[in-house]
This record gives sequence, C-alpha cells and structure tokens, in this order.
Amino acid sequence: MNIQIAPSILSADFANLERDIHAIDHADMVHVDIMDHHFVPNLTMGEPIVERICQVTDLPVDVHLMIEDPDRWAPEYAKLGVSSVSFHMGATHAPVRLAHQLHDMGVKACYAVRPAEAVEPIFDILDEFDMILIMTVEPGFGGQKFLTSQALKVRRLRDEITRRGLSTHIQVDGGVSTSTAHIVAEAGADVLVAGSAVYGSSNRAKAIDTIRDLAQA
Ligand code: DX5
Ligand code: ZN
Repeated sequence: MNIQIAPSILSADFANLERDIHAIDHADMVHVDIMDHHFVPNLTMGEPIVERICQVTDLPVDVHLMIEDPDRWAPEYAKLGVSSVSFHMGATHAPVRLAHQLHDMGVKACYAVRPAEAVEPIFDILDEFDMILIMTVEPGFGGQKFLTSQALKVRRLRDEITRRGLSTHIQVDGGVSTSTAHIVAEAGADVLVAGSAVYGSSNRAKAIDTIRDLAQA
C-alpha cells in the first residue's frame, strides 16, 4: 500500500511555524490540530493561522478539528484553502450532511473516532467519507503513548473497505513513531500522522523517510 506521512505541527515551534512547516516539505500533507478547550482540554489555533499556513505551504493541509459543534465550524475551515477536514463522531450531529457540505466546497471529508468509540457504526455511512481517522491516543495532546488496542479497529475497518471495494483512506493519529509505524501499516492504515516523532527529531526529513520506510516494509 502507498503510505502517506502527515506530520502534525502540534509539536512544531509555534514561534517559528513557517520554518518548521518548510522542514517537512517532502511529507505528503501537513496535519493541523484545532483544539477548543471544550471537546479536548487543550487550545491551539483558529482560522487566521490556518489560512496563513495554507498560504506558505505547497503541501495539502489536513485540518483535524477537535472542537465542539463542527457542524457549525467545519465549513469555515473549508473556506481557507485546506485539502481535508476531519471532524469527530463524538461532536457532530449530522455527519453525512456535513460531509456533503465539505464536498460541495471542494474539500475532502474525514470522520474521526476516539479510542473508546467503535468503528462499526460508521460502516452504514462509510462511502460518504474520503478518509476515516482512527485515534491511537485520547485526543488532546502530542507525545502520548500509542494504544496498541486500536490496531484491531484499524484491521476491522480495512477489511470492510476491502470487502466493499472502496478507496477510503485510513488515517491513524497518536503515538506513531519508528517503533509503532509497522503495527498500524500492517493493520491497514495508509495515512500516518506523526507529531513528536518528526518534530522531536533533529533531522525531520530523515524522520519522515524512516517512518515511511518502516511502514512500507
Ligand atoms: C493529538 C493530535 C495529534 C498529535 C499527535 O490529539 O490529534 O495529531 O499531534 O502527536 P504525537 O504524534 O506526538 O502522538
Ligand atoms: Zn491530530
């Protein structure tokens, strides 16, 4: 499978954001975590910063909304030049309507599940989404320990996607590193978010290549 690496700028230096975004130029997309102090106990950034990120990078910008009321806010992010918007099962009221709205705006729709949420309820609406995000940590912070339990969930989702002949991507987010990349890739994930494993390394380009190689091995 073709593996894509999406470094999360949550672990970048926010005072040198443009520099740190260019440090990952040969990744496949930039993963931007939006947190609101309500859906998760952390706060990051909003639309003005996302808009500037889209202006300074040629990579697709993948926005991960960890906020309440994505039905209201996701379309606002979709206006900024982003490529994809992820919103959480635990926060949205009308996921299919929101996916349609994002598609009408030319933006990919991704549905996200937290570790305690089953993926099976998504099966009925799977073909509405370009990507499903399986959280491999409890959302809110970078640098947490990978939850091995979630690999089985990735496998169940991959089997369903294959059985139905869909092209849905499976993204994993949380604790992905040189030690865990092969686990999620073997389970069937093809888009790997990595924050601390990339930005915690002095050579970000090399960290991206190593994670990609280990996942593709
Ligand atoms: C956590 C965020 C992640 C975070 C991952 O809630 O969604 O994108 O940046 O960080 P690492 O890779 O350090 O676990
Ligand atoms: Zn994320």
